[in-house]
Amino acid sequence: MTLVIDNISELVTNDPALGDGPLGVVTNASVVIDGDTVVAVGPAGAVADERLDAGGRCVLPGFVDSHTHLVFAGDRAEEFTRRMAGEPYDGGGIRVTTDATRNAGRAVLRDSLQQRLVEVHRAGTTTVEVKTGYGLSVDSEAELASLAAEATTEATFLGAHLLPSEYQGRADEYVELVCGPMLDAVRSDVRWIDVFCETGAFDADQSRAVLTAGRAAGLGLRLHANQLGHGPGVQLGVEMGCASVDHCTYLSDDDIEALAASETVATFLPATDFSTRQPYPDARRAIDAGVRVAMASNCNPGSSYTTSLSFCIAMAVRDMGMTIDEAIAAVTTGGAAALGRSDVGRIIAGGPAHLTILDAPSRHHLAYRPGVPLIWRTLGAGFRLPPAGDQT
Ligand code: NIG
Repeated sequence: MTLVIDNISELVTNDPALGDGPLGVVTNASVVIDGDTVVAVGPAGAVADERLDAGGRCVLPGFVDSHTHLVFAGDRAEEFTRRMAGEPYDGGGIRVTTDATRNAGRAVLRDSLQQRLVEVHRAGTTTVEVKTGYGLSVDSEAELASLAAEATTEATFLGAHLLPSEYQGRADEYVELVCGPMLDAVRSDVRWIDVFCETGAFDADQSRAVLTAGRAAGLGLRLHANQLGHGPGVQLGVEMGCASVDHCTYLSDDDIEALAASETVATFLPATDFSTRQPYPDARRAIDAGVRVAMASNCNPGSSYTTSLSFCIAMAVRDMGMTIDEAIAAVTTGGAAALGRSDVGRIIAGGPAHLTILDAPSRHHLAYRPGVPLIWRTLGAGFRLPPAGDQT
């Protein structure tokens, strides 16, 4: 059974061969899909078994959210309120969420993860990465990894998120646990390994040890780097060949030079900078230097409790020096590159039918109408959603 989505005012394909500019924009377009696959992209008026009238709306590739921490229990609304009153963010609240997560039980964790995935999908996202990192013990990290793996193929082990309370003063012992028994317990469930390389979390040597162990276990590498200040994270990420270094709120000239000369993607997480009152990264400077960039939500209960990449796009255009087209590329092909994927983030014949339909005639509305729920429909998903009857 084929379906044509017709009467599309503006179609972003991300294939320059199909339309105008780097985003391959086709006006007055249609897309034909067969099951989960796009079979044709072209002018309006294509014929199929069924027809969905887009009503002059804009259609984009489903967003690719390459950095989330969606498996956790509880929230930290009070911490956020204290922060807005002037308390600085230092990441210490990760332990608060770790306590809540360890005590929650699998059914509660699974249910809350599923409801967040519904929210992610309603926000226009069709590919999502999910990290562990609120277990910080062998058993709890193994549980979070298996829940993340149930949801997505893009599951990431973040045992080195923060030193748990019971390991205070014994950081090297904890790193050995992460690199040994904890990694062994999660490796069959995850595709990636990640470390929070920052003052107060893990230093460059500890982060290198974790990434080296992950690579030996066959995992791809990612890194939290330069979130709260300048540090060694970005350089380490490039040296280790990470697919992505994430945050990059603080970038030195040397960091930019190293990134530009590498395959490593710099992933900006501006909702974090919004929620922690950090400065926004200067994306313009990075892009002009030739750095490959992505943008992700970093949805987590502490530093960025949002699933909205539309919100990120608006911030990127307003405050990070990105054009609307660069911001859209960052949450589609950029996110795909950060995950080492070439199959998602575009609308092309033969590709997955992952589409976001805006309740707006053009992509510009994503930045022009901030805070307005512009996602009309999200079609397809590369992650597992609960059955419709279980969605609240
Ligand atoms: O990416 N920086 C480390 N991890 C998360 C924050 C998690 C939290 O505060 O709970 C981040 O911002």
